Amino acid sequence: MKPVSIGLLGLGTVGQGVANILLRNSAEIERRTGRPIRVTRAAVRNQAKAEALALDIDITTDADSIVSDPDIDIVCEAMGGEEPALQLLHKAIANGKHVVTANKALIAVHGNELLEAARDSNVSVSYESAVAGGIPIIKALREGLAANRIQWLAGIINGTGNFILSEMAEKGRSFADVLAEAQALGYAEADPTFDVEGIDAAHKLAIMASVAFGMPLQFDAVYTEGISHVTREDVEFADELGYRIKHLGLARKRQDGVELRVHPTLIPEKRLLANVNGVMNAVLVHGDAVGPTLYYGAGAGSEPTGSAMVADIIDAVRCLHAEPAHRVPMLAFQDDALSSHVMLDTPDYLSAYYLRLHALDQPGVLATVTDIFGKLGISIEAIMQKEPAMADSGEAADESGEVPIVPIILLTRRVREGLIEQAIDRIQALTTITQPVTRIRVESL
Ligand code: HSE
Repeated sequence: MKPVSIGLLGLGTVGQGVANILLRNSAEIERRTGRPIRVTRAAVRNQAKAEALALDIDITTDADSIVSDPDIDIVCEAMGGEEPALQLLHKAIANGKHVVTANKALIAVHGNELLEAARDSNVSVSYESAVAGGIPIIKALREGLAANRIQWLAGIINGTGNFILSEMAEKGRSFADVLAEAQALGYAEADPTFDVEGIDAAHKLAIMASVAFGMPLQFDAVYTEGISHVTREDVEFADELGYRIKHLGLARKRQDGVELRVHPTLIPEKRLLANVNGVMNAVLVHGDAVGPTLYYGAGAGSEPTGSAMVADIIDAVRCLHAEPAHRVPMLAFQDDALSSHVMLDTPDYLSAYYLRLHALDQPGVLATVTDIFGKLGISIEAIMQKEPAMADSGEAADESGEVPIVPIILLTRRVREGLIEQAIDRIQALTTITQPVTRIRVESL
């Protein structure tokens, strides 16, 4: 049978992974598809560098010529970035080609328009490799869990951020030191703020939430907080309380709307997710029928990401022969059945909290703080006062002329975020509180 012809856009780390897997496993893959698959052409920025790889692929710097080539059946985008990737995919779709992409930003931000264009052209857009690297989480959400009403999912979906937090917790290293190593090892995005400020995780969460809850992609609705303010002190205090701090993406469907949020989170140390370390990713999904299910694996890298892309290519090969009505819908639910859930705003989020305060060590300070919580109806789960440090304020000075300052750690029970903000404002207004209050959410999962 005539081989299926793949045009690759980008032959970097991920593109090479795809080319290598398709070559090495060609016989096994053909047993699955019934047709051979060949990467026939690849578009690159640096022709000489790509030719030095000595792959049996026609190399060009003219990406347009690939998306317009009538001999290409499936376009596989592994170039990253917004443009020219977006325009090229639109052209490929308009030319009737199925598209496979690893571009999470493109799907999260421009996915609705791309999918709309694909429906109009009767082709598919596949994006398994855009989320959690080699973990087949889109397949699991879209097909394996199709019997369920998915209630929530929570994931460690940025390897760089997880590497940083793991090294801080295990080896007591500083944030800046570990980030520099993550960059040197090539885990981080070209712009590492995408990793540490949570934007990369927010892209992935927006995609998973759409597929889980059957709604259009809503990247703008994701509350995003990074890990750059997490200190070694917090990591150690959390450890003493029996928690690990992880950078979590969380999507929860409630009666009154949907919460989409990415932020550092204290997780009980006994949870499997709390023990996912280094650059590994994991996603916990809760369905009403199946209960909790956990997916774990490499969240980045050449062949793990290539594995997900090749699986999408194999599905796309099947789409070549299947009428659109017989394909799995691109966002898991029928296009006319996508729902416009209410997106909840941060004051309505529900979470428990870890708060770190620094207070002058004077009688009555703790009582004033707990009184604020009592008056707002916020229940305290645990409270921990640490050894004092000295500050050179004039008040209540000891013999050395310095006032001791004590770190106070509080864990609250689950509460509306609007209420905890009020409590923090009132605590910060106290003259006995010497530094801004640190707030980290706690999820028991
Ligand atoms: N920078 C990303 C990460 C790469 O660290 O997870 C994979 O999306």
